[in-house]
Amino acid sequence: MTKHTVKTIQAMRDEAQTITMLTAYDYPTAKKVNDAGIDMILVGDSCAMVVHGHPNTLTATMDMMGLHCAAVARACDRTMVIADMPFGSFQYSVEETMRNAARFVTEAKVDGVKFEATPNHIEKTEAIVKMGIPVVGHVGLHPQAVGALGGLKVQGKDVDTARKVVSEALALQEAGAFAIIFEAVPAKLSAYVTEKLSVPTISIGGGPGCSGQLLVTHDVLGMYDNFTPSFAKRYQEVGQLMLDTFTQYKEEVLAGIFPGEEHSYKMSDEVMEAIEKEFNR
Ligand code: KIV
Repeated sequence: MTKHTVKTIQAMRDEAQTITMLTAYDYPTAKKVNDAGIDMILVGDSCAMVVHGHPNTLTATMDMMGLHCAAVARACDRTMVIADMPFGSFQYSVEETMRNAARFVTEAKVDGVKFEATPNHIEKTEAIVKMGIPVVGHVGLHPQAVGALGGLKVQGKDVDTARKVVSEALALQEAGAFAIIFEAVPAKLSAYVTEKLSVPTISIGGGPGCSGQLLVTHDVLGMYDNFTPSFAKRYQEVGQLMLDTFTQYKEEVLAGIFPGEEHSYKMSDEVMEAIEKEFNR
């Protein structure tokens, strides 16, 4: 299997094959996501929360995201890797947005970028697309706007916010976005927009009517307890497994069970005797 591209992702949508996407932030996790045959990875700014322990995504920086993106990109020979542009990296000017998008591609070697584009950022989407960098749009809940929204809330339940979701998705497609993420949007609304668009839609809390599904890996694995959105499914309790494992390790070290002989290096008696002779004089 060769690496996914804009073309193969579009072909999946055109052939009604569901697209799978997960977040990843480090090499070993990305490798497993890649090997599991997941089509796309988002190196989300959610790493500020689930990896770095910040209360929201606003503290992610270009440097932080660049390191995570580079580690993930090194692991993926099949999965398409998308860098999430952090808060402050695309708000100031078209030129600075282009420069930051290019940094992700040249320094971290990702396959595309995603940002929480509002109508103010359509020109920036067009500019990045014109540079030849694939762009994923993001409508519905924008976690970077958590302060303005008064929390991480579903978007599109009333006419005003639903209109915003539809018009932003259409504008992003027009600007050249090759896929659009629908976050925390009523299922009926994302299914309706999916029908209207010709590019794939990816749901994270957008219901089953999208062209694909995305979840945050730490939610899927049950590794992050501070906040689990109601749309996320915890497939495992890896956090509990880690806690049990670290507790067992501590108990075995204190009881003298670890390290055993099989975890220790051996040396010949002659060498030891020579050392004792020299240092016991
Ligand atoms: O950072 C992230 O993981 C995201 C998804 C929630 C879409 O932006």
